[in-house]
Amino acid sequence: MVANINLPRILRVGAGASKTLAATLTELSLSRPLIVTDAFMVQAGYCTVLVEQLDEAGFGHGVFGGCVPDPTTDSLEEALSVLRAGDYDCVIGLGGGSSMDTAKAVAVMALLDGEMSHYKVPHKIDEGLPIIAIPTTAGTGSEVTSVAIITDTKTREKMLCMGLGLMPVAALVDYEWTLTMPYRLTADTGIDSLCHALEAYVSRKANPFTDSIALTAMRSIFQNIRTACEQPDNVEARAAMMLGATQGGMAFANSSVTLIHGMSRPIGALYHVPHGLSNAMLLPEITAWSVHHAPGRYAHCARTMGMASEADSDAVAGDKLVAALRQLNVDLSVPSPAEYGIVEDDWKASLELMAEQALASGSPANNPRVPTAEEIVALYRTVYS
Ligand SMILES: [Fe+2]
Repeated sequence: MVANINLPRILRVGAGASKTLAATLTELSLSRPLIVTDAFMVQAGYCTVLVEQLDEAGFGHGVFGGCVPDPTTDSLEEALSVLRAGDYDCVIGLGGGSSMDTAKAVAVMALLDGEMSHYKVPHKIDEGLPIIAIPTTAGTGSEVTSVAIITDTKTREKMLCMGLGLMPVAALVDYEWTLTMPYRLTADTGIDSLCHALEAYVSRKANPFTDSIALTAMRSIFQNIRTACEQPDNVEARAAMMLGATQGGMAFANSSVTLIHGMSRPIGALYHVPHGLSNAMLLPEITAWSVHHAPGRYAHCARTMGMASEADSDAVAGDKLVAALRQLNVDLSVPSPAEYGIVEDDWKASLELMAEQALASGSPANNPRVPTAEEIVALYRTVYS
């Protein structure tokens, strides 16, 4: 099997990486960036850190600060009108997954005619303005993936858009942005990263390249997530989480996610549960359902994360993995859908639709145990309370 691996051309990782923005642009022969971010990053002054650098370097620049959670084609149009009103040669995505998705979509639509919906999967978007990704959460891994998700305002569909045009040309991975992240955001985005690594490793599309980075990522995320939540300014934990998030992104982007992400997206779309949190709600029970269908792989994950020892059989290690993931949810106060406030009748009424959407995403087919629609419905029932 030939593994097909796509990555940014430039990756700078560590404290101060975002301070190399001007130098990175120069290296890429770029000089007129539009920064795409959200209102908080602008109002709290975070964006100024980049703007000052660009001013100092004498680069013309603009800022679009209107990114919203779960970006829509309407919010994308606003950003595009700002881009088209200027003479920009690249797009800087600053923020979490939503800002990054908006930045990516703006960069490709700058060169394409028509609407974003024309270019959703299975279309492959291969062109676009260069994207420089500066993630501020740890995280979606979006800085190293060729994917963006934009909701069609007309149909409410969460459109998956893919292609090399959406791959950042450079990613500046600087954990210092994450030192002020609150507890819940740290926990949810951290579990999202853990899911990326775990799903990439057990995926039917796993390959030797993604295996090694997935294992490294899951170990550092699992061993640091509690500390990062409890001690927000612990630089060792924050650095490990940020690197783990980028590695988790590299892993799933070059293998795939599986049933957890497949079932998570419909929960986000219907009930507006943050992406990482809906993954967290599913992680232990989906793993419990899948673990005996790839016992060696799951056992290796458990041993890598320090949940089981070499002396444990694969079956025992798999059970310890599930127990440790359940405990992690308890420790990080992850609510069930019921505890989150989703009404039981609504949940029950949407089971078939969510199962249909989960299957349609294709991700469940990469799971070690491939579910039927009825089995997905049963799993949604299991995790509810
Ligand atoms: Fe994710």
